[in-house]
Amino acid sequence: MTESGNITWHESKIKKEDRHQLNNHRSAVIWFTGLSGSGKSTLSAALEACLHKKGIRTYRLDGDNIRHGLNRDLGFSPDDRKENIRRIGEVAKLMVDAGLFTLTAFISPYKADRDQVRQLVEADEFIEIYVKATIETCEERDPKGLYQKVRLGEIKNFTGIDAPYEEPHYPDLVVDTDQLSVADSVEYIVAYLKKNHFIAD
Ligand SMILES: Nc1ncnc2c1ncn2[C@@H]1O[C@H](COP(=O)(O)OP(=O)(O)OP(=O)(O)O)[C@@H](O)[C@H]1O
Ligand SMILES: [Mg+2]
Repeated sequence: MTESGNITWHESKIKKEDRHQLNNHRSAVIWFTGLSGSGKSTLSAALEACLHKKGIRTYRLDGDNIRHGLNRDLGFSPDDRKENIRRIGEVAKLMVDAGLFTLTAFISPYKADRDQVRQLVEADEFIEIYVKATIETCEERDPKGLYQKVRLGEIKNFTGIDAPYEEPHYPDLVVDTDQLSVADSVEYIVAYLKKNHFIAD
């Protein structure tokens, strides 16, 4: 839906398929979702380094980084969280069109918002990875000191504490970071990407 009727799509001469051919690989969104501290940023950065080494073109979109720029006008109310994910979805779609494996690290607590992003791209261009860790583990890790601030009453509407996290019902992959090391988690995801022919063996 657009606000103005006076806009016309201008087709490029170069298509996504042309870029795939040039790159020698496909493109897709690898969407990491999970509680704060579950390991989305850590894992997506480690996976990106691994893919880059294999000669695969990537880009990573990370919650905190995007909130510094594109989404600096958004807060953490349900509506703002929804708009946050909608914009990221549109950016990720452009990046997939540009031929990149696009790794995203957002809590993205609402199932409907994640499903909406899935609908934006082709069925075989969206991989939802549930980065799973108990709230106790996340609070113990507390890599950014956020849980401590929540307990001190300095942060409100925090996912998993006083704001909901809706677990994915049918994620493409679940990575249990309570059980797996970062290296093992990356290996597990790479194996999935190979098995499902996203990347070559
Ligand atoms: N298997 C694992 N995968 C990822 N992180 C792990 C794993 N095991 C332990 N960790 C640790 O858990 C912490 C995860 O922090 P990280 O910043 O990646 O979380 P996040 O999900 O991005 O949180 P936020 O939503 O607040 O940005 C790090 O300190 C990391 O070293
Ligand atoms: Mg993060």
